[in-house]
Amino acid sequence: MVGFGYWGPNIARNLENSEDTELAYICELDKDKRGRAEKLFPSSKAISDYDRVLDDKSVEGIVIVTNSKSHFPLAKKALERGKHVMLEKPITETSGQALELVKIAERKNLILMVGHTFLYNGGVRKLKEIIDSGNIGKWLYAYAIRVSLGPYRSDANVVWDLAPHDISVLLYLKGKKVMSVSVRANCSLKEGIPDVAFMVLKFEDDTIAHIHASWLDPLKVRKLTIIGSEKMVIFDDIEPLEKVKIFEKSATISYAPETFSEFQAAYNYGDILIPKIDVTEPLKMECQHFVDCIRSGSKPVSDGMNGLEVVRVLEAAQKSLESGGRDIEVSE
Ligand SMILES: NC(=O)c1ccc[n+]([C@@H]2O[C@H](COP(=O)([O-])OP(=O)(O)OC[C@H]3O[C@@H](n4cnc5c(N)ncnc54)[C@H](O)[C@@H]3O)[C@@H](O)[C@H]2O)c1
Repeated sequence: MVGFGYWGPNIARNLENSEDTELAYICELDKDKRGRAEKLFPSSKAISDYDRVLDDKSVEGIVIVTNSKSHFPLAKKALERGKHVMLEKPITETSGQALELVKIAERKNLILMVGHTFLYNGGVRKLKEIIDSGNIGKWLYAYAIRVSLGPYRSDANVVWDLAPHDISVLLYLKGKKVMSVSVRANCSLKEGIPDVAFMVLKFEDDTIAHIHASWLDPLKVRKLTIIGSEKMVIFDDIEPLEKVKIFEKSATISYAPETFSEFQAAYNYGDILIPKIDVTEPLKMECQHFVDCIRSGSKPVSDGMNGLEVVRVLEAAQKSLESGGRDIEVSE
């Protein structure tokens, strides 16, 4: 594993606890953090020289948990040296870099996976099951809220830091491409670093989704609401157990033939259902999935192409926020 900052120890714990992995090295540039890694994971070697990891033929896979700027060079080097790679989100800083990694991984027949953690969340998996079964009817629209007080990052703005999660979840649940994005953002505390953003995504089926991402909010909220023609569902990741709620609520509009211009709305209020979900730690599922894909050679749920698609949306979002909210097409 490379990078032992804020997020790295969580991944290290899951790699260490798995029966299928041996966490051979923790590679970290900062001496104090290496000292911490040595204390917490004494059976792994805490080192600063990345080449030492790449030279070790017994190392099959590398998990990169560094700042996004270093994702591309570290991952490219690892793939070129024949190692399977899992990268934290966002996969890279540009879509060109992501595409290059996808091509190298394909050419060398290696697994390239991105840590879109929410795709391994039992609640999101349950939502996917509900939506794919046709239970909510036609998908009408959706909105996600991902806000809290910090943590502020120096290497990314709030769009690149928080929105990858909701973009990846929406792409996964809908199975449709995002065609364009429009973003209004505010630099509340530091000039040039947007810390609150309101994004509208337009999908290829003409539906829209809104994402509210913020580092400056009194509450920690991680919520996704999907409105269907038959039912409405809410995924609330802050809830410990009751993460998914299905509301049997809907509205229909009917027109009387003789008074075509007038319509009547009928509202349906039914039960609220709370399905049982798998509450296994998503990061454990994610790390296990990486290992399973290496063993079986199968395509990860969050593969390099999935990472690339999210970065394409982020690039359009960045252009949009820089142009004061213009609707920007997502490039192919
Ligand atoms: N999936 C999630 O829910 C989630 C949550 C938080 C962060 N992340 C992602 O994890 C990544 C790391 O985030 P963080 O908050 O831990 O950042 P961080 O800045 O706290 O830690 C990054 C660490 O990487 C080390 N590092 C940088 N370049 C290195 C190199 N070349 N070799 C070895 N070590 C190097 C730094 O010294 C630092 O300790 C980011 O991509 C972030 O987006 C994901």
